Amino acid sequence: MADPKKPAPRDEVTGVETTGHEWDGIEELNLPAPRWWLLVFLLTVIWAVGYWVVYPAWPTLSGNTKGSAGWTSYKKLAHEQAEITERRGEFAAKIKSHSLEEIQQDPELYAFAVAGGKTMFKENCAACHGTGAQGGHGYPNLNDDDWLWGGDLNAIYTTIRQGVRSTHADTRNSQMPAFGEMLSRDQVSNIADHVLSLSSGQGDNAEGAALYQQNCSSCHGAEGKGNRQLGAPNLADAIWLYKGDKAAVMQQINHPRHGVMPNWDTRLPDETIKQLTIYVHSLGGGEKDAPKQ
Ligand code: HEC
Ligand code: HEC
Repeated sequence: MADPKKPAPRDEVTGVETTGHEWDGIEELNLPAPRWWLLVFLLTVIWAVGYWVVYPAWPTLSGNTKGSAGWTSYKKLAHEQAEITERRGEFAAKIKSHSLEEIQQDPELYAFAVAGGKTMFKENCAACHGTGAQGGHGYPNLNDDDWLWGGDLNAIYTTIRQGVRSTHADTRNSQMPAFGEMLSRDQVSNIADHVLSLSSGQGDNAEGAALYQQNCSSCHGAEGKGNRQLGAPNLADAIWLYKGDKAAVMQQINHPRHGVMPNWDTRLPDETIKQLTIYVHSLGGGEKDAPKQ
């Protein structure tokens, strides 16, 4: 240490005080840290102490110091999630208060409805209709424009809400009669040939055609185009709910199946049914609403 009584030695070139430390003739100048730097340093120390008091900071044997503000990362997450839920709630309320057509015309609301409907579809509908709504034996494909009960927004909404041959009081309903009790095996075979000729254009059967007009056209139409009021499928489009071979068609004529789609009004809130409607309608087969009468 330099002797305090002696005047501090100075560097000859710069005239700055030296600390008196010297290595091989090179001396260290006494240049203390600038005042502003010291001040900032002190401030960070004070800040740190404050931080320790307010926020969780130091590990302890049983966990960590909790801090006076009670902040935890869980609380932060909960807060962020509450914000998301609130935003979702806003959209859900809008879906509730807007008509299907209005939702379709509002791009932001529409996008929310399609995304939500897609998730809900996977949860509630995919078991029967497939994850991509492609359908399967007895379960209609919802991507194509072949509709049993109609493909505009209101028709889809009604089908989902009330179901088909379901327990809903106003369910979509119709029963194809079992013709096995009324017609002979040959007659059924002939009708089946006629039915198959409607889509293939081959192998028509005159007796079958006549029997078809008597027994079937009231529901399936004279040309087999179907009837959506009755959920009677189009038989002329080569799209089959059941199978399209002769044995399957004969089986349907003899012992028809009556496909059941559950009603969802008791299981899902109305805004979810609306989202599902928008989603199903968006899949590609969606039709424009019939003009109101
Ligand atoms: C238990 C099986 C099952 C579940 C689950 C199910 N469906 Fe269906 N769905 C059917 C059947 C079967 C039909 C055909 C009914 C018929 O034969 O007319 C159908 C028909 C439909 C139709 C009418 C198609 C047309 O061509 O007109 C729509 C739309 C539909 N379902 C949507 C849904 C939605 C959306 C959900 C989920 C909320 C759902 N389904 C859940 C079995 C199911
Ligand atoms: C009362 C109305 C009604 C009558 C009459 C009727 N059907 Fe049907 N038919 C239906 C309905 C409804 C379905 C759909 C059943 C379902 O969704 O499970 C159907 C389904 C079918 C199918 C299955 C189509 C597919 O895509 O897999 C065939 C085939 C068929 N009918 C043929 C006939 C023939 C042939 C006759 C006359 C002998 C006939 N139907 C009479 C209402 C009728």
